[in-house]
Amino acid sequence: GKTATGTAHGKLILAGEHSVVYGKPAIALPFHLVQVEANVIRKSGPLSIDCLYYTGAMDEAPPKMMGITACAKETLKTLNEPAENLVIKLESTVPIGRGLGSSAAVAVAVVRGLYAFFGRKLSEAELERLVQIAENFAHGNPSGIDMMTVINDHPIWFEKGKPVRPMPVSLRFYLVVADSGRIHDTSLAVKSIREKRQYEPEMVNKAIGRLGKIVYEVKEALDAKDGFRLGQLLNEAQAQLSALGVSDAGLDDLTGAARAAGALGAKLTGAGRGGCIIALAETREKAETVAAALQRAGAIKTWYFSLEGR
Ligand code: MEV
Repeated sequence: GKTATGTAHGKLILAGEHSVVYGKPAIALPFHLVQVEANVIRKSGPLSIDCLYYTGAMDEAPPKMMGITACAKETLKTLNEPAENLVIKLESTVPIGRGLGSSAAVAVAVVRGLYAFFGRKLSEAELERLVQIAENFAHGNPSGIDMMTVINDHPIWFEKGKPVRPMPVSLRFYLVVADSGRIHDTSLAVKSIREKRQYEPEMVNKAIGRLGKIVYEVKEALDAKDGFRLGQLLNEAQAQLSALGVSDAGLDDLTGAARAAGALGAKLTGAGRGGCIIALAETREKAETVAAALQRAGAIKTWYFSLEGR
């Protein structure tokens, strides 16, 4: 029978997570080494999904899948097609709940897959509207950065509520990514800062302000192709995120192990309190050394790639 495929890559926040919720800028990169694929297949019966966690009618899927169900149904409604006689098969290498944008990537792949199946052209505005439905269920999509990084194929300069800007990155250094293996909760991490801000407004506002400035300085370092400066800035961002309480002992161990192995800088990426860290290495060999050290320090998976020509 007829099939079609939609794909989406993961995302990495280089700098600006959390402060982006308070109107500061952030820089994020597509993470092409992890991908979601949604295969849409014609099969009689109710609209169904087939993935690692659940196989069956979308209407009977567990609560965690309510967002993607609502998104798929609204997509079909928009396409003027009945929500039946289709199976969506998901394949993903984006680990769930680790700050790599899995929820946004699943939604983007599903919407793209359904549009491809019916041979219809998908505008970016429509894609954003449909993915937003799933993101609202997943974590309230505090700033919208996950969705925009997953939709775009190039690094972005992101400010909440503003059009994204392409952010050319071309640095002959390597970014190492390590998965702590621990699932985090983006809404809880975002909420913890909002609460902390009520009790310690000065401290929290100062950290948010500094994180925002760091993003401008990261842009300067990238423009100047100064990897050493970038490394320092990643370390500084990690210190501020720690002060805000979104790092934890496990992430501190990983960033420490990366630096001890020769990384020029390291920080958590995404919401923190679990999830992933990133580290900057000068060469491929050093990236390999840092990745190996991160595995010894307990990371369940590591990746690395060059920041050249992104
Ligand atoms: C999550 O990837 C980034 C946060 O800043 C939340 C958001 O901006 O939506 C923690």
